[in-house]
Amino acid sequence: MSEDPGFIHRFVPPERDDPTTLLLLHGTGGDENDLLPLGRMLDEEAALLSPRGKVLENGMPRFFRRLSMGVFDEEDLVRRTHELAGFVEEATSEYGLDPQRLFAVGFSNGANIAASLLLLHPGLLAGAVLLRAMVPFEAETPPDLQGTPVYLAAGRSDQMVPPESTERLAKLLREAGAEVTLDWQPGGHGIGRAEIEGARAWLAGAIPGMR
Ligand code: MLT
Repeated sequence: MSEDPGFIHRFVPPERDDPTTLLLLHGTGGDENDLLPLGRMLDEEAALLSPRGKVLENGMPRFFRRLSMGVFDEEDLVRRTHELAGFVEEATSEYGLDPQRLFAVGFSNGANIAASLLLLHPGLLAGAVLLRAMVPFEAETPPDLQGTPVYLAAGRSDQMVPPESTERLAKLLREAGAEVTLDWQPGGHGIGRAEIEGARAWLAGAIPGMR
């Protein structure tokens, strides 16, 4: 571990001992509070674990450095992904979370590092909801994501995420064995009601041993 794995974060305990945890990963300029309402919309009872990205871009928190729009500093991305995985493992033990029921929910920059977690730490996440994600990097050897459920929601007129990058990410994840649901929305980079509903229904089906 290159650095202190500690992250400023919020932890909201589950309702009624629900064993599911949503790892909430915000977009550029967000923080640990941003996605708490979305997390609750997606699952009323799950625990919520929401770290703040440690990289600052003109004062805006992010989870890894970028060189320009959509061009990532891959060395930093890989290092930060390992660091975030370390935090998730520590938090899992500290808060007594069930790693078999840990789902990432990421938006934009947060979705990109969630995709990177899937590629570099297969098995860490039980599944992921990726909202406006792109290919974080091209993995040299495909990870084993056999059966890992992933919900990928993309906007047809997104100015920041080229549709080819979403399609390529879906392909990479499928080749690694993940069960990818690709949900194309008519809108842009912002998240709409329809996909929140879509993600909520998908998550309810993806959580093992549904309540
Ligand atoms: C990224 O930098 O991860 C993507 O371009 C999306 C974003 O701006 O957060």
